[in-house]
Amino acid sequence: MVEGGALGQVNRLREASGEIEWSEAALELTRHMSKTNIRLSDYFSTQLHTHRNYSLIIDQISVLIISSLLQCNFRRCFGSAATVIERNTSFSTLNSDDVSYFKELLGEKSVVEDEDVLLTANTDWMRKYKGSSKLLLQPKTTHEVSQILKYCNSRCLPVVPQGGNTGLVGGSVPVFDEVIINMGSMNNIISLDKVSGILVCEAGCILENLISFLDNHGFIMPLDLGAKGSCQIGGNVSTNAGGLRLVRYGSLHGTVLGLEAVLANGDVIDMLGTLRKDNTGYDLKHLFIGSEGSLGIVTKVSILTPPKLSSVNLAFLACEDYFSCQKLLVEAKRRLGDILSAFEFLDNQSMDLVLNHLEGARNPLPSSMHNFYVLIETTGSDESYDKEKLEAFLLSSMEGGLISDGVLAQDINQASSFWRIREGVPEALMKAGAVYKYDLSIPVEKMYDLVDEMRIRMGQTAKVIAYGHLGDSNLHLNISAPQYDDKILAQIEPYVYEWTSEHKGSISAEHGLGLMKANKIFYSKSPETVQVMGSIKKLLDPNGILNPYKVLPQSLSSYH
Ligand code: FAD
Ligand code: MLT
Ligand code: ZN
Repeated sequence: MVEGGALGQVNRLREASGEIEWSEAALELTRHMSKTNIRLSDYFSTQLHTHRNYSLIIDQISVLIISSLLQCNFRRCFGSAATVIERNTSFSTLNSDDVSYFKELLGEKSVVEDEDVLLTANTDWMRKYKGSSKLLLQPKTTHEVSQILKYCNSRCLPVVPQGGNTGLVGGSVPVFDEVIINMGSMNNIISLDKVSGILVCEAGCILENLISFLDNHGFIMPLDLGAKGSCQIGGNVSTNAGGLRLVRYGSLHGTVLGLEAVLANGDVIDMLGTLRKDNTGYDLKHLFIGSEGSLGIVTKVSILTPPKLSSVNLAFLACEDYFSCQKLLVEAKRRLGDILSAFEFLDNQSMDLVLNHLEGARNPLPSSMHNFYVLIETTGSDESYDKEKLEAFLLSSMEGGLISDGVLAQDINQASSFWRIREGVPEALMKAGAVYKYDLSIPVEKMYDLVDEMRIRMGQTAKVIAYGHLGDSNLHLNISAPQYDDKILAQIEPYVYEWTSEHKGSISAEHGLGLMKANKIFYSKSPETVQVMGSIKKLLDPNGILNPYKVLPQSLSSYH
C-alpha cells in the first residue's frame, strides 16, 4: 500500500511531465523511493504508530522527495544504505574549451577521452561504484598537476585524484562527471639514501615496484598489502594504508617523513623533508596522510625504509577457538618480541571461500578443517637463533593447547603459497558474488563477538566471512551474498556501525571513509572534531572541487 503510493506518485509525475521514455535514472529513482518509504515506514511505525494519517504522511513526504530529486541530478549507491547524493550545483560542466586547454598543457596523449579507458577508470575495484567522467588526465610533473588544479579551481570543475584504483570505499572513482586525475605517469624514483634508508619517489610509483627496487638495494618497504601489484604509494599515503606489517613497522604517520602536495588552487606545498626529527611548527604532512584526496594531491613522498634482514620465517597455524587466537597473539608479542613481523588471521569460512574460488589455492593443513587459521611471520638477522626462538614458541603453544596444528614454510615458494591464502580472501570474495565490506578497529577480546552476532543476524541469507590484521585489532568483516539486495544491507547497517561505536571501535581501521562512509563519520568522531575537519577542508579547498562527496558528511562538504 505504502510502496504502491510512492510508485504511483512517480507515475503521476511522469505522466504530468509528458515523458514517454523511462530513463535509467528515473527507474533508479523509483526503486530508491520504494526503499526510502520502507525506511520511513519503519521510522513512523516507532515514532507515530498512533497517527491516523500515517500513509498520507508517507505519501506527502514521497512527493516532496520525488519532486526535489526530479529537479536535480542524483545517484544512488550500493555501498551505503540507499544514499542519494545530489550533484553540487555550483560545479560547472566540462566543455570543449576545457579539453583544449588540457591538451595544450599536457599534450594529446595525456588527455584521455577513450570510452574503454574511461569505463575502467570510472569503475572501482569491487565494481560497486561507477561514475560517469568524460575525461581522464595523466600529468607527468608536479607543475602539470598544479596547472590542472589551478584551472579546475578557477572553472569550478570537480576532480578525483586516482592512484591504482584499488580503494575499497568508493573514494577513487567519480560520483558524477568529475575529471579523473590519474597519477600513474608520475612514477619516478628520485633518490635512496643507502645510509638512512630514506626513499624519495613520485606518488604514482606502484608499491610492488618500490618493493623490488628496494630489495635490490638491501631495504624493504615498511608496508605490504595484497593490492601491491596495482596500488601506488600516493594512494597508500592518501588512504594511510595499513597492511600486513603494521604490527612491526607502524603506520605511515610514522614512516612517511615528508611529502609534496598540490592544493586545490594549484599551490605546491613542499614538505618533502627527509629528517626523522623536525619540530618546527605544525607538521602539515599529516593532513594529507589518510585524507583520501580531499585536501590536495600528493605528488611526492619521502619514506623511511627498514633494512632487509636475512632471516624470514612464516608459520601457518590452526586454532580451534577465537580465545586461543587471542592468547597466541599475547604470547607471540611477549615471546617473539622484536622479531615478530606479522600476525594475521582468517576463519574457516574465509578458508573455505579461498579454496573454492582461488585457482591453485591449497590448504597448508589439509588433514581437517579448523575453526581459525593464524599466520605468524618473524623477521630478524640471525637465522638459527630466530628459527630456534620461533620453534620453541610454537612447541610450547602446541603443548599449551593454543595451536592444534601448524606448518613452517620451508622455502620462499611455500611462504608465498601461505600468504596467497590470506591475501587472496578479498579476491575470492569478489568471485563469490556480492560483498558488503566492513573494516573495523575493535578491541581484540571483543572482535569476534561481532562476527558471531552477525552470523545469527544474517541466518541463511548471507555468509559472514572474517579475517584481518589481528596483531593490530583490525577485523575485516565481510558479508557475502549471491547478489546485492537492500534487504540484506538493512540487516547489516546501521547495526555494524552502532555495535562498533558502542564498543569504542572505529568504523574504518584502514580503508578510509570514501563515499561509502562519508555520512557515517559520526560513529567514530565527535561533532566538534568533524566541524574542525570541515573548517580545514574549507580553508584548503574553498570551492570543494577535490574529491567531492567523499570523506566528510554531505551536510559539511556541500557548502554551497
Ligand atoms: P586509489 O584506490 O586510486 O585511491 C584511494 C584514495 O586515495 C582515493 O580517495 C583517491 O582519491 C586518493 N588518492 C589516490 N592517489 C592520490 C594522490 N596521489 N593524492 C591524493 N589522493 C590520492 N588497504 C589497507 O590499508 N591494507 C590492506 O591490507 C589492503 N589490502 C588490500 C587488498 C586488496 C586486494 C585490495 C583491492 C585493496 C586493499 N587495500 C588495503 C585497500 C587500499 O586502500 C589500497 O589498496 C591502497 O592503499 C590504495 O592505493 P591506490 O593507489 O589504489 O589508491
Ligand atoms: C586485507 O587486509 O586483505 C585488505 O584490507 C582487503 C580487505 O579487507 O578485503
Ligand atoms: Zn586489511
